This record gives sequence, structure tokens and C-alpha cells, in this order.
Amino acid sequence: MPSADDVRDAQRETWAGLSTGWEKWDMVIMDQLRPIGAAMIERLAIADDHHHLDIASGTGEPGLTIATLMPTGRVVLTDLAAEMLDVAARRAVTQGITNIATKACSADGLPFDDATFDSVSARFGYMFFPDMAKATAEFARVLRPGGRLCASVWVKPDANPWTALAMASIATEIPPVPPDPNSPHMFRCAAPGYVSALFERAGLHDVAEWDVPVELTTQSPAQYWQVISEHVSPVVAALRQVDDATRERIGEHAIEQVRAFENNGKVRVPGMARCIVGTR
Ligand SMILES: C[S@@+](CC[C@H](N)C(=O)[O-])C[C@H]1O[C@@H](n2cnc3c(N)ncnc32)[C@H](O)[C@@H]1O
Repeated sequence: MPSADDVRDAQRETWAGLSTGWEKWDMVIMDQLRPIGAAMIERLAIADDHHHLDIASGTGEPGLTIATLMPTGRVVLTDLAAEMLDVAARRAVTQGITNIATKACSADGLPFDDATFDSVSARFGYMFFPDMAKATAEFARVLRPGGRLCASVWVKPDANPWTALAMASIATEIPPVPPDPNSPHMFRCAAPGYVSALFERAGLHDVAEWDVPVELTTQSPAQYWQVISEHVSPVVAALRQVDDATRERIGEHAIEQVRAFENNGKVRVPGMARCIVGTR
């Protein structure tokens, strides 16, 4: 089993490399993930003057949207990869959002005092943490009593054709290797109740989880493949292992398969995420 330091180093390098793709396809990715951010915000009980912590913020969401909802409040955006936070800072400038700060740190070792924040969010970060129980204990520690934690994770691949389709195309050329349940991967937290149990073990109460649908929309099958092959971590990692000709065959296969989701000049591929909320 890799050590926590190994996991952090590998994740930092992976996401530093993915930051360019996330910035390039920002509009497409943010459109896809917006319903999840909205569902999380609804349960966070945000108030005008709140002090909010966004974990694994990546390019800034849902932290930046939360910042726009609290005129006298402040949001701290944190992530392991400084390159992702650099994109978040640029997005904040573009959107005229000034009540934020960024801090590069790992979810399982937060550089904040106890009971500093009124609320904490972590959209699609959990599955990458080296120690998810330790990270959850950290979120509970920095929350004030009564404060809310809300996270989201992907449910099983079958419910997420937007990424499963690309992985199936990759499997036509590279034999799939079952993911190690103890190492980070996109569907590591997919089992119902998995993250809820972590919340409960960290002493949170009123824990609840619910599923929220998403849709990845692109302008063409070819654009679907460009978007996916430039920002989805397992796809990017798999494509790095093959030569140009193989990469091209995989792309052609994915483009052909995704035509099934083409309608009225757009490609809309569905997916499903799970949100989890708890109170300190
Ligand atoms: C899928 S992105 C999610 C970004 C953003 N929250 C969103 O939903 O658009 C996952 C993020 O988790 C971050 N991450 C991975 N391991 C982490 C850790 N140990 N602590 C904090 N962030 C981590 C990555 O750097 C990456 O930016």
C-alpha cells in the first residue's frame, strides 16, 4: 500500500498536470458540475457574514459561487495543487470576486485553528485523499459547533456514461486493471453510505445523502473526446501509456460510441453524483 506521502505527491503531480485542461474546458466542466454545487450550497445554510472553507477547490468551485452569496463573508479555497488554485484565483479576478483567499494544503492536515469556519464544502475531492477518516476529522475540527459539512462524490461507473464510455474505449486497447480500493480513484467512494459513515465516525450528526444527476454537454462527438481526454484523471493517465496510433484508435472508438448521445447538434452524456451533508 502506498504511504500517505506517496499518495499526496502523486496527486499533487497529477492535478498540476491536469490544471491546463481544466482551465481550457472550464465552461464545459463547470456547466456539468453546477447542479452538484447548487445542491451542496442549498444544504450548507450559508449566511451573509459566514466564514467558509472549500476543500479540494481545484479551479474554485463551489467556493467561488459561495463567495458571491456572502457579501460580508469570506471564503478560503484550499487544494493540494497550487496550479489548480492559480486557475481559481484567475477565475475569481475574471468574475470580480474579492472576498476569497487561497491556501495550498492537504485535506488531512489543515493549517487552521479549531472552530474557525461556519461551513465546509468538498466537491469531488474525497476519493483522492490519502486518509479520508483523518481528513473528515480535520473538517469537523475546523467547523464551529452547529456548522455544516457538505461533500460530493461520483456514484458507480454504470451511472456515469460520460466517463465510463471513454474508459470502455480505452479498454479496447489496454486491458483494464481493477482499481486498488485503498488508493485514490474516481469511484472509490461510490458505495452508498460510504462517506456518510466517515461523517458519523467523525462525530457529525444529522448526516444525510442524496443523488443528483448531471449532464456533460459538448458541441460535437469530437469535442466530447477532446474535453474528456484533456481533464479526466484516469483517462489522461491511461492515454499517457500508449503510442500516438493507439491513442488515435481509442479516440475514434469513443467518438463513434458517443454519437448515441447526439441530438439536435449537441452531445449530452448523463452522470450521477452523491451529495453528503452533516452537522458538527
Ligand atoms: C476533481 S477535482 C475537484 C475540483 C473542484 N472542487 C470541482 O468540483 O470543480 C479534485 C481536486 O482534489 C484535489 N486534491 C487531491 N488530493 C487532495 C488532498 N489530499 N487535499 C486537498 N486536495 C486534494 C486535486 O488537486 C483537485 O484539484
